[in-house]
Amino acid sequence: MRSERSKPPDRFTLHHPALGGDSSSFAADVRTGLLKRPKALPPKYFYDDLGSQLFEAICRLPEYYLTRAEGEILRDSADEIVCSIKGPVRIIELGSGSAEKTRFLIEAALHHQPELHYVPVDISDVSLERSSLELLHIYPGLRITAYAADYFSALRALGKERITEREGKRTIALFLGSNIGNFDPEESRSFLREVRSMLRPDDGLLVGADLKKAASVLVPAYNDALGVTAAFNRNLLVRINRELGGNFDVQKFEHRVIYNEEHGRIEAHLASLGAQTVTLRGLDLEIGFEPGETIHTENSYKFDLDQLSELARDTGFSLKRTWFDSARRFSFNLFTAAGLS
Ligand code: TRP
Repeated sequence: MRSERSKPPDRFTLHHPALGGDSSSFAADVRTGLLKRPKALPPKYFYDDLGSQLFEAICRLPEYYLTRAEGEILRDSADEIVCSIKGPVRIIELGSGSAEKTRFLIEAALHHQPELHYVPVDISDVSLERSSLELLHIYPGLRITAYAADYFSALRALGKERITEREGKRTIALFLGSNIGNFDPEESRSFLREVRSMLRPDDGLLVGADLKKAASVLVPAYNDALGVTAAFNRNLLVRINRELGGNFDVQKFEHRVIYNEEHGRIEAHLASLGAQTVTLRGLDLEIGFEPGETIHTENSYKFDLDQLSELARDTGFSLKRTWFDSARRFSFNLFTAAGLS
């Protein structure tokens, strides 16, 4: 099986637009984050190879309802979603991960057109290559141009390629999995404006957004009984140890999750169990921790529909339609690119 697929077919191109810049920005970001008060680290660094696999395990947890709710919407409505954008399309996906759910949309598009150009972007090149080869194996009509990079480097590279202007197709951009929730309100606005600038009027952006709900449902989704999410969070310290010569004792940091009602967001933290000093040889840095002091590693904002249409309006889109799962836990929002004035 593996060997048959090990040679990428000519329908596959993989770009590394940020190559070289990445490890040095990891070092700089970790230094800045650990010197901040309160301490904080950017969530994009969760997704090394192990982190990406742990996230896939999270998606299978009973408590993490988001992935199943999304799957339900796509199973029921992929065709409707694809048909909302007129004419032949290409699909760009920001943060494609395993691209398992994307199959529903790829299949729906391939019902209406013989060939499809799929452009996935993911920070993990291992996930990107694995999922792309799998998709190419299943769908002979598919061609893939993949970008291994963080969102902003990839958007810049995509802009330069003028990838949306070729072949006279409309673009559907995908931003699934509640990824929008990992940005602060200002960050999500600058990100969406950046996405808007590579689209043309009437192109679409499908945004998956988790909805506000009781803390008793939200908190377990980010703090599961098996401890997979805890492992995912602490893997960031393992990565720092490996790549930056750190000596974090992972057992001395606890995964902690709260629902911050005021901001409408889940917060994930790593809390120091006791006073301790950590050395990062690669950064020539020593960091002290008070007992209970935390590193803030992630926000996951939860939305209501007013916030989503405001977000669309603020960033050059309009919210054309929203789909829900049967329990109304999660939403898919089709933003269409408004004409630029
Ligand atoms: N995009 C995911 C979300 O907000 C990421 C995620 C899931 C996550 N579980 C996590 C991030 C736990 C940090 C910690 O749902």
